[in-house]
Amino acid sequence: MINRHLAVLILAAGKGTRMGGATPKVLHESLEGPLLLSVLKSSSALSPERIVVITGFQAKEVEDAAQQWHEESAPDTCLRFAFQKEQKGTGDAARSALKDLNDFSGEILILCGDAPLITSESLDSLLSTHRKENATVSVLTALLPNGGSYGRIVRSESNGEFIAIREARDCTPLELRIQEVNSGVYVVDSAYLPGALQQLESSNSQGEFYLTDIIEKAVQEGQRVSTALTSSPEEIQGVNTFADLVSVNRVIERRILQQHLQGGVTILSPETTSIHRSATIGAGTIIGPSTRIGDGVRIGKNVTIEGLSYIQHSEIGDEAELRWGIRIEGATVGRKCLVGPFAHLRPETILEDEVKIGNFVETKKATLHEGAKASHLSYLGDCDIGPQVNIGAGTITCNYDGYKKSKTTIGKGAFIGSNTSLVAPVTVGDGATIGAGSTITKNVEKDSLSLTRAEQREIPGWSKKKRKT
Ligand code: UD1
Ligand code: MG
Repeated sequence: MINRHLAVLILAAGKGTRMGGATPKVLHESLEGPLLLSVLKSSSALSPERIVVITGFQAKEVEDAAQQWHEESAPDTCLRFAFQKEQKGTGDAARSALKDLNDFSGEILILCGDAPLITSESLDSLLSTHRKENATVSVLTALLPNGGSYGRIVRSESNGEFIAIREARDCTPLELRIQEVNSGVYVVDSAYLPGALQQLESSNSQGEFYLTDIIEKAVQEGQRVSTALTSSPEEIQGVNTFADLVSVNRVIERRILQQHLQGGVTILSPETTSIHRSATIGAGTIIGPSTRIGDGVRIGKNVTIEGLSYIQHSEIGDEAELRWGIRIEGATVGRKCLVGPFAHLRPETILEDEVKIGNFVETKKATLHEGAKASHLSYLGDCDIGPQVNIGAGTITCNYDGYKKSKTTIGKGAFIGSNTSLVAPVTVGDGATIGAGSTITKNVEKDSLSLTRAEQREIPGWSKKKRKT
């Protein structure tokens, strides 16, 4: 149900100078997508009466991205945009949104569009503190061993009461050592915000209007100010540089792995495993080290992935066994299939149930029907391989004549001897046998034997004679 007394303000007008400035900072992508969308997602989970996004630098791109999120993921959320003409600081940004709030009364939750890790649980707990302490302004803070560029929470030495938020570049060396920092997430009463923002001054090292100054002012005016210390400091990470983005992505990766672990997936080496947010993985599946599961992957239950694997845009059936060193892209792997070690399934590969693909086998646009086997060293491209077919070691489908691709069809239960070249277009009938080392250029009838190798000759004693000369 919509909370009529909650509005959300997201500051997203900044250029992101420290990230080159070509893309608006809030549209830089983490592993969850554009930074701003993560903030929209976690704040919209609180069902606010409205969300106002403040844009400025490349406003249209930012608005389009937010609008698209709105239409696709949260059509019931009331989304508005305010425009900050010049980037004169976070306080000035908030001021640009005042006209979009003058018909609103209640709590205003303010967030930075560049801090994507904040969870709705933490926002909820800040709001609870705000209500419990009957505060006018509340700030979410975090303890960090090294506060870096975050604003420091300055407290009274005598009683620990909050005094001010001091930006890192305005801090004295002693203040820089403070470990409690500002998350950039605040709750402010709607009756207090407009007046406080109008009074802001820009007497700081950057000549900007700092939103953080309204909190210091509130203390001086004797308003109730509360701070809530988050128990998960990683959530407050803001992205100001590409290095920050890397560290945000690490957290996202860990969160995704955590979700799968909770869902009954065993991840043997979390440090070397990465799983895309879109992947689904069934319980009982085991994932070995150095595995990357990319976009659009569905993995069934009780699958074993030994490791050193890359899978993307693919579906893996229950109880499949993927051995060490495989790359699978755009493929469907059926139940109880066995793939690898060292195999490459390329796009449009379909393995029906219980198919075996062994070491050094490459497939492309290949359908292998139930129970078919290609156990060693083969290239199978543009082909349809019947159920229970056995493909001998070294078999190649010669699908390309330098101009066009052609298809190989092999019927049910056929036996293809080792080192066979199947020159497409060609069809091998059901139950046929191909002798090892053959080059097959003509269709082979059902149940017949076909072989093209030269007849073996034998010259008795030849070697012995040779040794004597
Ligand atoms: C800000 C806080 C700092 C806090 C940190 C948390 C201030 C003055 N500082 O610093 O105390 O520890 O966030 O991440 O608020 N923005 C605008 N218009 C502007 C300037 C910024 O919309 O004129 C937006 C940016 O797009 C960004 C957010 O406000 O999403 C924060 O701005 P940023 O420049 O990143 O501030 P920080 O230096 O990170
Ligand atoms: Mg920032």
